[in-house]
Amino acid sequence: MKTEIVFVCDECGKHLLKWMGRCPGCGEWNTVVEREVSKARQKSLRPQRDKDGVGAVISIADVQGDSEPRLSTGVRELDRVMGGGIVRGSVILLGGDPGIGKSTLLMEALGSLADSGERVLYVSGEESSEQIKLRAERLNIHNKGFLLLVENELDSIIHKIEETECSVVVLDSVQSVFSRSFESAAGSVSQVRHVAGRIMESIKRGSSACFIVGHVTKDGALAGPKVLEHMVDTVLYFEGERKYPYRILRAVKNRFGSASEIGVFEMSDTGLQEVANPSELFLSERPKGAPGSTVTAIVEGTRPILAEVQALVTGPVPGQGRRTCLGTDPQRLALMIAVLEKKLGLTLGDQDIFLNAVGGARATEPAADLAMAAALLSSFMERTVAAGTVIFGEVGLAGEVRRVSRADARISEAARLGFNRIIVPGSNSEPSSLPKNVTAVGVSHVTELGPLLFD
Ligand code: TYD
Ligand code: MG
Repeated sequence: MKTEIVFVCDECGKHLLKWMGRCPGCGEWNTVVEREVSKARQKSLRPQRDKDGVGAVISIADVQGDSEPRLSTGVRELDRVMGGGIVRGSVILLGGDPGIGKSTLLMEALGSLADSGERVLYVSGEESSEQIKLRAERLNIHNKGFLLLVENELDSIIHKIEETECSVVVLDSVQSVFSRSFESAAGSVSQVRHVAGRIMESIKRGSSACFIVGHVTKDGALAGPKVLEHMVDTVLYFEGERKYPYRILRAVKNRFGSASEIGVFEMSDTGLQEVANPSELFLSERPKGAPGSTVTAIVEGTRPILAEVQALVTGPVPGQGRRTCLGTDPQRLALMIAVLEKKLGLTLGDQDIFLNAVGGARATEPAADLAMAAALLSSFMERTVAAGTVIFGEVGLAGEVRRVSRADARISEAARLGFNRIIVPGSNSEPSSLPKNVTAVGVSHVTELGPLLFD
């Protein structure tokens, strides 16, 4: 790959056009050094312009599409969710409830980018420099290349972003910044749209990348990240219960990668720790020998993950029973109830039914149908699903069990975690390679499920 020489101040990280004895950024002498960088890393996503400065019409064959120049944040789970790192010139929206850990995540990312020699800028509109310093101490961030700006006014922020020419900028948060062009308060829909739009325009002119933090808001007074989703390149949501330490980062839109990838973290005293084995986490507190509990294998982005699906069927109650879904799809539950009533003759109409994918997992894909049906059956019959069983498969309206994608990956993940009996769709029951001591049992219809489930 072609390389290019750049001049960088070792002290403050400022990039210069030529070598200088004294750095104009920090005023230190003899700190400017030569560095070789690959040209690809310099490339940005700016459109090609012709001589008049308007967009040029070019042939797709002439476009160099080999790879977007990506920058690793050093936080592997974050890199993976973004599709392998930050794309230069891109704008990423990070949404989440207040207090979930957005500032922590992005400060950690900036900290490790600074450690790898990048100059980064953290713009805070909602915390004082002292508060940010306290967090930086906890996260062990001391690098001089980590620059900080505490400011709320949009024009000043854009001016500083352009002046400092950092490779990655964080704007924390979009709701705390206001533009003088609007009379409404910071955080209103018009302000939030305008602020994000102007920041994007500025980022697209340069070669830095920018994270925009947006608090998810429950009351209508502040505009949430939803109003910005269509504008930005990538949308990430940071989710979790504040009472529990686990956090899940989800991509819901990604112009540069898969939009269904997840990253799993645990909040500790010293910041967010990456959880490399989410299946272990989702199954960690699973009750042994409890009716209504099943394990399924879902695929999130590129990863197969095991999750516990629990059902509680209680009744009869007067009138129509309640249905409550957590981490599962209410439509699919309705479908599963109808199939079990019609094909297995269960009476579920007067039962309260609760269905939960435990631990913050989301079992909303059709491949979780069969596990949902098994959990309902197990709770209804008060019988425990045999130990060591994982269940996946889509169920159709006629009760038929249909094949699902990536069956091999799901089976291997189940085997890795010590499960030895996998109930799968009949058409998926001959995986290309089956781990030792593991059996795949194929079912073609829900009526076959009952006899296989229980000891
Ligand atoms: P924060 O990143 O400020 O959330 P957000 O920017 O999404 O509003 O993090 C908030 C919570 O995380 C706060 O309650 C304190 C906790 N926390 C830790 O538990 N450990 C840590 O190392 C840090 C920095 C924060
Ligand atoms: Mg914050």
